[in-house]
Order: sequence, then structure tokens, then C-alpha cells
Amino acid sequence: MCGIVGYIGKRNATPIIIEGIKRLEYRGYDSAGIAIINKDKKISVFKEKGKIIELERALPKPSETAGNIGIAHTRWATHGEPNQANAHPHTSSNNRITLVHNGIIENYKNLKSKLEKSGYTFSSETDSEIFANLIDFFLDKTNSLTEAVRESMKLVEGTYGIAVLSNDSPDQIVAFRKGSPLILGIGDDEFFVCSDVSAIIIHTKKVIYLQDNEIVTIKNNTFEITNVHNENIKAKVSIVDWDVSSIDKGDFPHFMLKEIFEQPTTVKNAFRGRIVEKLSTVRLGGLNMTGEELRKVQKIQIIACGTSWHAALIGKNIIEHLARIPVEVEYASEYRYKNPIIPIETLVFVISQSGETADSLAALREAQARGARVLGITNTIGSTIARESDGGVYIHAGTEIGVASTKAFTSQVTILSLLAVLLGRMKNISPVYGMEFIKELHRIPDKIQRILDKNDEIEKIAETIKDSHNALYLGRGVNFPVALEGALKLKEISYLHAEGYPAAEMKHGPIALIDENMPVISIALKDVIYEKIISNLQEVKARNGRLITIATEGDNVVKSFSENVIYIPETVPILQPLLSVIPMQLLAYHVANLRGLDVDQPRNLAKSVTVE
Ligand code: F6R
Repeated sequence: MCGIVGYIGKRNATPIIIEGIKRLEYRGYDSAGIAIINKDKKISVFKEKGKIIELERALPKPSETAGNIGIAHTRWATHGEPNQANAHPHTSSNNRITLVHNGIIENYKNLKSKLEKSGYTFSSETDSEIFANLIDFFLDKTNSLTEAVRESMKLVEGTYGIAVLSNDSPDQIVAFRKGSPLILGIGDDEFFVCSDVSAIIIHTKKVIYLQDNEIVTIKNNTFEITNVHNENIKAKVSIVDWDVSSIDKGDFPHFMLKEIFEQPTTVKNAFRGRIVEKLSTVRLGGLNMTGEELRKVQKIQIIACGTSWHAALIGKNIIEHLARIPVEVEYASEYRYKNPIIPIETLVFVISQSGETADSLAALREAQARGARVLGITNTIGSTIARESDGGVYIHAGTEIGVASTKAFTSQVTILSLLAVLLGRMKNISPVYGMEFIKELHRIPDKIQRILDKNDEIEKIAETIKDSHNALYLGRGVNFPVALEGALKLKEISYLHAEGYPAAEMKHGPIALIDENMPVISIALKDVIYEKIISNLQEVKARNGRLITIATEGDNVVKSFSENVIYIPETVPILQPLLSVIPMQLLAYHVANLRGLDVDQPRNLAKSVTVE
């Protein structure tokens, strides 16, 4: 979603902040803008609808955008359509305050009418402009930008990460947050603010993750952090431990393809150092739970959205199988409003790649408010979900830039398998069984690589379906959520309608859709349910459906009735999703690419959904 980058130092801010927002393009946006304090100590604002390239084209000659202090923004429209007026930065009506805002102001109507009564006017449909006028209003009373910000924060309800400039004090940036990420980057005689470290990582790895209700004032080559109650904050400086190469495409044409190909490594990284071979179990220290506490767990609830929700469904299968603990999987957006029942001895997990998804965060808070212990499974160190949960596990997949989640999914499933072994060894499974499972987990990265080696073959299959209008994805048992995930991948990047179904449910309705134009992508792997799914596929074939089947190596039966077969290596049934999802990801990628679409930044989507 929206992105913020700010710079204050000795260098020319414009190229730095433009390059910074380009690094955030992957998050999804529909307009962009910058504000620079120029040599005359006045703020100049430039903004455009569309891509950053449009903004660059609209900029005047470099001498007119030169300055050492600036803020920039990419906007993903919430209040008001994507156009130039609604793009950020926004400026107060008497021109003193300019700011960029991520998040949503809930009481903006109320604040707007109060500000209008005080003579302020508005030129956009956004909620963000309210903050600019409100800070301006308090500037008259406090004479300090930081104090004006502090007073404004007391009145605003909602979520925000904001960077603000003032014509009255053109030597500083003030940035502050509540519920929306904001990071201070510390360089040599220069500082950055941003909503995502990938925007500044080429300049510095020294960062401070601001906490809710904190304000950073940066001026005179130093910074000070206070909070809304005017207390001084001694913040911890963190060193970002990932490499710049993770935000480059390398030799790949798209981030999504690069990330799909990273999976042998990222899956390994998810289990590396967490397996205790001697005891045939795993160690997940971040859960902050003793063995005694874990043994008492009677029920698990897993809350997530989108692809993370699909990973949760697979986790349910694996945990119930290995640990015999009942697991409920909930959409975060439903859970937060449904008055959830959380029996005692229930452990709640929130899964989120970004760690910032608004619905997942609200569900986490709701479960905590009911006294539940909530653990996070996230990819993003220092994210809000990571910080607010009572413990958790990082998936260590490295930055995921493609909007369509791929490597985070397999890493989430890997972590859920580790959790299943941990709980399973306490409740249900023998050391021998535990060790067999762990050994197979170790073989998964090589097996993923063998599927990736079929990339060209899968591209050819994609060619055969790229002009379809619909697709049906079928799977059963632990592979049913993979069918959902395959359909989601196709929908989001190729804009084709696709549905995932449990294969046997097809005859209760969707079978009516099947004809010679309908590609049916099915997972039919060798396990206890194999014969059943073969019967389901015969039903598709009998109606001239075009079957693309993901099958176990050596299975010659499926060949006889499928238009195409993608063979994958055999593994234990509950780990099959880590393999069966790979052809789904590649197929979706190639269909979208062959259709000439923007694979990494599909329309209307954002990488981190920080609004409700
Ligand atoms: C799909 C996708 C989304 C996310 C969802 C949750 O490819 O990426 O469906 O899975 O928005 O995001 P996180 O995991 O960041 O909470």
C-alpha cells in the first residue's frame, strides 16, 4: 500500500527520495508525489496520477527541485479516486504545512467540519488533508512543529504514519506514527524516514523502528524521539540484516519469478537451526512458551488473510494429523467482528507475511483483549504483528517484492509443519515417526528444485490456457487449499476468473461449467485418496474438460485422460503442498506474462493491506 520516504542531510534530496519510492513500487500505488524544501527555504510540491515515471516527467529542471530536505509518497487510493488533487503530499490551506500520510483517519468528517469553521479550506477528497490543516491550526498555538504534531495526534482517531515539513521551520522533518509503520534510517550526517526499509537500505542499515504514538524530530544533524505524552524515548537502534541483492531482480525478468526460484533456499532457511535431531523434535524459542504450557494446548485458532489463510488451512491438516489438536482457521476480517469464542487452553496464531495487514492486526488485538495468548508467524522483522504478539516465529523468507505471495507461502507452511512436529512429539508421535518426517522435510528443497527445472515445460502448458476466460482448480485433503491458492495466483496476476474446489464437491454444482473451453487444473497425487480423485477427474474428462494434472512421478494412469501432466516428486502426503504449489505458481506466472501483464504489480492490488 502507500509508501513514504523522506531525506534530510547534505545531499540533494530529490533523486534519493524518488529512487526510494521506486523501491516501494512493489507495494502497489496509483499516484506519486514529492515535496522539497528548496534553496529559498520554501516547500515545492510536485505530484502526478499514475506511475512514478509520470511524476519524473512532470518535474521541472533539476535546479528547481534541488534541496537537502524532502518527503515523497506513493498513494494507493482509499478516500477519493486516484488523481492529482488526491495524490500526496498535501498542504494546509494557508500553505505552511506539507505532509505525506499512510493510513486512514476515522474521525475525519468531524475534524473537517471543525477546521472549516476555523476558516480552513480543502482541495482534495482525502482524509490526509485534515492532518495538514490540523497541524497548521496547532502551530499558531504552540509555535513548534513537534508540539503542533503532538496536539494533533491527541485529536485524530485512526491509523497513520506521517512525515511533515513546515515553511515556518524549513530545517527539519517531523515524522510520527500510530498503527502504520514508520522507520528512521541513520546514515553518516544524514537521516531518512520511510515506511519500509527496502526504500533506504542502499543508504544505511542502521534503523529505528518507531513505535505507536512516537514522534521523531530531525534537525541540526541529530534527532530526538518523544511520544504523544511528551516523554523522551530512548529507542533501540537495529541493524537490518538482509542484503541489498534481495531487493534486486538479478537475472530474472520479474521479482515473482525470482522469488519462486528462491524457494529451495527459503524453505531451508525456515527450518534451518530449528531441528533438534537428537530428540526428533524442533525448537521454536520465539514462541516464549515452556514445554509444560505447550502440552496443555487443547485447541488452536489460526487467523490470516489471502495466501496466508491458505497456508493456515494446510497447517490445520498437518497439525491435526501430527498432534491431534483441533485447529480452526479464520479469516481475520471475519474474526475481528464476530465475537469469537476462544476456549481456555486455546493458542491463537496470526499469520502474516507483511506483519502489517490491518484485519490480521485487529484480530490479534481482539484475541488478546479476550485474554488469549497470541503468537505471530511473520516475515517482517519489527513489524506491528511481530511486536504486538506474545511470541512467534519469523519465517526468514527474505523480502518478498512480487505482490503475489509465493516464497512466503511455502515458508509459512514449513513453519506450521515444524509447529506440528513440536506439538506432535509432545502429544502423539513417536521419535521414529518424528525423525522420518524431519528427514523428509530436509529432502523438500531438492524436490522443489526438480520441479523448478520443469519451468520451460510449464510455460508451454501456460501457452495452451492463456486465452481462456475461466479455470477450475481441484484438489482434495491437504491439497484442497493448494487448489485455492492456485486459483488465487491465477486471478490476481492474470485477471482470469478461477475457482478452487475440493474435487468431489464439483459434482454439486461447478460441474455445470465444464465444457471443452474449461481448463481444469487438478492435483492427483499418490496417497490414500488417489483413486477417489481419479474418479473425479474422469467426470471432468467425460464432459470434455481440458485436464492439466499435477501427478506423482511414474504415474502413467493420469496420462491417458489428461491433456497435460506435470509430474512432481513423491513425498509424505502431509508435505505434498510444499511441492504441488510450485507448478501452480509457475503456471500463473507464465499465463500472466504471456498475456503481457504487469506480473509484479497487478492492478488494484497492494503488497501490504494496511486498510480495513
Ligand atoms: C496473495 C497475497 C495476499 C496476501 C494477503 C495477506 O498473493 O499476497 O492475498 O496473502 O493480503 O497478507 P499478509 O500475509 O501480509 O498478511
